[in-house]
Amino acid sequence: MQNTLKTTHKIIQDWYRINGRHELPWRLTNDAYKVYVSEVMLQQTQVKTVLERYYFPFLEKFPTLKALGDAPLDDVLKMWEGLGYYNRAKNLHMTATLVNELPEAIDELIKLPGIGKNTAHAVATFAFNQPIPIMEANVKRILCRLHKLKTPNDKDLWEIAYDAVDKENPFDYNQAMMDIGATICNPKNPKCEICPLTDICKGKEESSLYPRKKKRVVPTREQNILINVYDDRLSLTQRKGKFLHGLWGFKSVKVPMCASEYIGEVTHAYTHFKLICKVYVYYENSPESMNYFSEDEIQKLAISKVDEKIVKLFLKYD
Ligand code: ADE
Repeated sequence: MQNTLKTTHKIIQDWYRINGRHELPWRLTNDAYKVYVSEVMLQQTQVKTVLERYYFPFLEKFPTLKALGDAPLDDVLKMWEGLGYYNRAKNLHMTATLVNELPEAIDELIKLPGIGKNTAHAVATFAFNQPIPIMEANVKRILCRLHKLKTPNDKDLWEIAYDAVDKENPFDYNQAMMDIGATICNPKNPKCEICPLTDICKGKEESSLYPRKKKRVVPTREQNILINVYDDRLSLTQRKGKFLHGLWGFKSVKVPMCASEYIGEVTHAYTHFKLICKVYVYYENSPESMNYFSEDEIQKLAISKVDEKIVKLFLKYD
């Protein structure tokens, strides 16, 4: 049975009223800054992690865009510690230094650092109630299944999304689509029998085909990490390059010094590669021109997950 668009909107509204995750704090505000922070955190991180560990402490420390812009980047990175993809934090901070308030227009939002097409749409619809769709991973998957699209391009998906959005209730519609994607139209084993969109879904019999999964083989990279220790303190430096810029970390070396001791390895899975770090320790007799930190001091620095694992390995070994 085919529903008209209006009927579908009504079905989605009714479903959302009963089943939606209304209590998510970024859905209880129309403060554009708070919506923006949540959307950036949620770009590559699960709702549970953002909710339980990052959203509230971040907003408590930086309650406004101005407070964020006035803060040193180091403080922002510290609050982001463990969330990964640190460019997100740097871009948030940069945006906060560039504008006094977030613009409403998508075209303006998109010009800001770190705000892509989807985040611009999300801020515009969730904070400013604009009648436009969003296109995060859950929504993409639903649209692919509804229309039996195996390898859609972004342009087509956006067109479909624009046609489908409930222009009278864009906020509820967009949040509902994400909730349907997160709780029913899962990547594996979707629960089509309880899906509010089942009547109009063309792909439900073979949902695993839509969209087609790209097989990704991630390469492995290996690094030798040298921890210089002096007087029970460890040397860390602030990274300058593009990767993990601004975070404190241990230095990597091509060849570990003969006098250093191998203490084990740590691994970490990034999106595009797996990193294996072989960790060596060198105890110095006199300090080199480096920054040395005690365990307590390291706790206060913004360091990456890998370096955190390296500290743990060192403490276990020591
Ligand atoms: N992921 C991105 N935006 C979200 C939102 N507003 N609610 C839940 N998950 C999301």
